[in-house]
Amino acid sequence: MRAVVLTGERTVAIENVPDPELTGPDGVVVRVEHTAICGSDLHLYHGDIEATGVRLGHEFIGTVAEAGPEVRTLRVGDRVLVSGLIGCGHCDACASGDPVLCRNGGLTIFGTTPGLPGGQAEAVAVPLADTFALPIPESIDDEQAVLLTDILPTGFLAAQRAAISPGSTVAVIGLGPVGILALQCAQLFGPARVLALDPVPDRLERAAALGAEPINASNGGGPAGVLDATAGRGADAVIEAVGLDQTIADAIVCAATGATISIVGVNLSMTLPFPMAAALLKNVTVRMTVAAIPSTWRALVALLASGRLRPEGIFTHHLGLSAAADAYRIFDRHEDGVLKVLLDPTT
Ligand SMILES: NC(=O)c1ccc[n+]([C@@H]2O[C@H](COP(=O)([O-])OP(=O)(O)OC[C@H]3O[C@@H](n4cnc5c(N)ncnc54)[C@H](O)[C@@H]3O)[C@@H](O)[C@H]2O)c1
Ligand SMILES: [Zn+2]
Ligand SMILES: [Zn+2]
Repeated sequence: MRAVVLTGERTVAIENVPDPELTGPDGVVVRVEHTAICGSDLHLYHGDIEATGVRLGHEFIGTVAEAGPEVRTLRVGDRVLVSGLIGCGHCDACASGDPVLCRNGGLTIFGTTPGLPGGQAEAVAVPLADTFALPIPESIDDEQAVLLTDILPTGFLAAQRAAISPGSTVAVIGLGPVGILALQCAQLFGPARVLALDPVPDRLERAAALGAEPINASNGGGPAGVLDATAGRGADAVIEAVGLDQTIADAIVCAATGATISIVGVNLSMTLPFPMAAALLKNVTVRMTVAAIPSTWRALVALLASGRLRPEGIFTHHLGLSAAADAYRIFDRHEDGVLKVLLDPTT
């Protein structure tokens, strides 16, 4: 079958690889129907983590083509969405839908952790399917289902852990797909204002159309914009959805005294410069989150079904898997008004 393989820094290729096989009696093989590229794939693409040869992709949905004898909740032919992260599947954390806190140190990521090939492929083997795959509810469309595999849970938990009170002011730093979804989820908690920071004009326009106040973050202007907009006070809750050293420092500057800062941007530095004095003197609370994806599905499916949450138009580009090299370049360089790319493995 064909799969997207990381072949070097900023290069991916479609390679013919062996068909996936069941990982064990609790696993399924999923024939992939849609698969997305994530900002987290870019950390591999940029070479921040050495992963040459990895089969990429942790956001995918498809149809069960084969099921192990111990799988109870899924049958061949079921359409499923799969958590991009999985754990041991057996501990209390995994049972509660939080593989990040897996007691057996079992957190693994499709298309990132060696030994767990990714979903930017025609098919993928999914271990522990009863815990980490969900039959796609009828009320959910395909694009929403793909969002439920990673970035909608991430945006939701980013907002939930930002401790937003009704009437407060929220700042969202970074308006990529994760930041845009975090912005929409922040609005569920009743803030009076959402300030939205990014250097890319079309992303600022999208945030404004969603009811946020856009602040152009070009040339380091983001934090000054937040302080201007709040008479020097800063935001009560700050969501960081970029992951750069600079934007993590910016989050502290943007925070009001007593604020909560919720970081979901991935930063792999072991020596991050951190504006400690400002953080300390403001008594901020800093929370960091890798998303406990399955734990959010019940609430998010209900919010999507009721229309209270409408993550529309996130996928701006629909390309065939064979165009993966172009798709990665477009997404990485923010070309052509892209927000997020969906790949079709059949073409
Ligand atoms: N914690 C989790 O569970 C989780 C899950 C998925 C993704 N992520 C991470 O979230 C981050 C965002 O992912 P994405 O898919 O939206 O990626 P993306 O690259 O599309 O978005 C990043 C955005 O940050 C903006 N940006 C760059 N510099 C900025 C600045 N100085 N001020 C404000 N904005 C700035 C970019 O213009 C872009 O819009 C990545 O680091 C990704 O790894 C985390
Ligand atoms: Zn992702
Ligand atoms: Zn576990």
